[in-house]
Amino acid sequence: MRKGQVNVFILLLFFTLSSASDQRWRKAMMSAYNGSSSSSSMMMNRVGSSILFPIHGNVYPTGYYNVTINIGHPPKPYFLDLDTGSDLTWLQCNAPCVHCIEAPHPLYQPTNDLVACKDPLCAALHPPGDYKCESPDQCDYEVEYADGGSSLGVLVRDVFSLNYTNGIRLSPRLALGCGYDQIPGTSNHPLDGILGLGRGKSSIVADFFSSGDGVYDSSHVTWTPMSQEFTRYYSPGSAEFHFGGKATGIKNLIVIFDSGSSYTYLNSQAYQAVTVLLKKELSGRSLKEAPEDQTLPLCWKGRKPFRSVRDAKKYFKTVLSLAFTNSGRRKTQFELHPEAYLIISNKGNVCLGILNGTQVGLQNLNVIGDISMQDRMVIYDNEKQVIGWSPANCDNLPRFRSYM
Ligand SMILES: *[C@@H]1O[C@H](CO)[C@@H](O)[C@H](O)[C@H]1NC(C)=O
Ligand SMILES: *[C@@H]1O[C@H](CO)[C@@H](O)[C@H](O)[C@H]1NC(C)=O
Ligand SMILES: *[C@@H]1O[C@H](CO)[C@@H](O)[C@H](O)[C@H]1NC(C)=O
Ligand SMILES: *[C@@H]1O[C@H](CO)[C@@H](O)[C@H](O)[C@H]1NC(C)=O
Repeated sequence: MRKGQVNVFILLLFFTLSSASDQRWRKAMMSAYNGSSSSSSMMMNRVGSSILFPIHGNVYPTGYYNVTINIGHPPKPYFLDLDTGSDLTWLQCNAPCVHCIEAPHPLYQPTNDLVACKDPLCAALHPPGDYKCESPDQCDYEVEYADGGSSLGVLVRDVFSLNYTNGIRLSPRLALGCGYDQIPGTSNHPLDGILGLGRGKSSIVADFFSSGDGVYDSSHVTWTPMSQEFTRYYSPGSAEFHFGGKATGIKNLIVIFDSGSSYTYLNSQAYQAVTVLLKKELSGRSLKEAPEDQTLPLCWKGRKPFRSVRDAKKYFKTVLSLAFTNSGRRKTQFELHPEAYLIISNKGNVCLGILNGTQVGLQNLNVIGDISMQDRMVIYDNEKQVIGWSPANCDNLPRFRSYM
């Protein structure tokens, strides 16, 4: 990261996805739901042009999204787990490796270009006050994820090969973690590392200098300020939970967008309200709870197996929403249609893709995961400090009329 520079970045995340099975909240992204494979993409914006990354994966059964990034000289491809919920990008690394997890590519061979301990980038990785430079020439890091997984290593700089949509190729030297000691989490994914796109200063996002361009039609975007209170995350602040257009009185839910999470998590109180209200809505219908289906904590069986969420929509009509008050006068709503909170398990049951965050230790955080970002464009505008969302047809890549 360059010192003393205003770092700006716009990231547009798109998904087309199906559904997810594992219980991790660390990993994943946004998508348009579609039972088949997904043509999703992620875009970064810089000085009037954009970088578009196709992403691969789905919510269920894969449970994560991966993006291919070419790093090193000569560039080698790595499959990385997309994560807007964490800052550090790291690769499993031959430093040599003390403990690495099985990965699709050979271990990354680090450069000798170490990030110094005094580098602001290194400071950004450590909690203030808890930051000692034992070896001034290097920056040791350790990151832990909500699913219990972790990576320990050292920061290096290396070349990232990036193609802009206007045809320009750039090879910036960016910092990344050389992770030589990994512990798999409960929802480990067989990838080479993590692409940390979070809001923190150590995120590679902060290395990109950007300005907006016309890749989205702003008139269809709902904008809300990024919280100035929860600055580690992409958070639109706190929300009240609405069920079927009605306020539930469950307020002050601190919400974050986390592409690293397959599912959406609400705190115990809001989770309880969703389950109780949905069960009430379903009472007297032919759906039966299916506790034998362990795909997710709450599944229902129909008369016949469901093939898609669309099949189940005659039972589930309710739109859930999070109403943000951050923006002052006007409430902005993030709506969750049934596609944004249900999956179809491999047994043909319909399962609730909203989980109890209190149970996985999220405490007061509520997480909008991939499932709820399907068929949406989510825009993180770090320059204007706003988050926007709009409906999107994620089967098509965005068009760049102005520079292609
Ligand atoms: C998935 O996409 C294909 C091709 O775009 C389309 O034909 C199909 O109807 C979609 N499925 C769902 C469940 O939307
Ligand atoms: C990651 O994405 C690539 C396409 O870019 C795909 O070929 C590969 O199978 C994916 N890997 C995993 C482990 O999902
Ligand atoms: C960038 O473009 C070059 C030339 O078209 C191509 O060979 C290369 O694979 C592209 N790299 C990425 C990361 O897409
Ligand atoms: C959510 O998890 C917490 C902690 O495990 C538990 O005490 C609470 O009962 C759960 N809430 C619901 C509605 O299941």
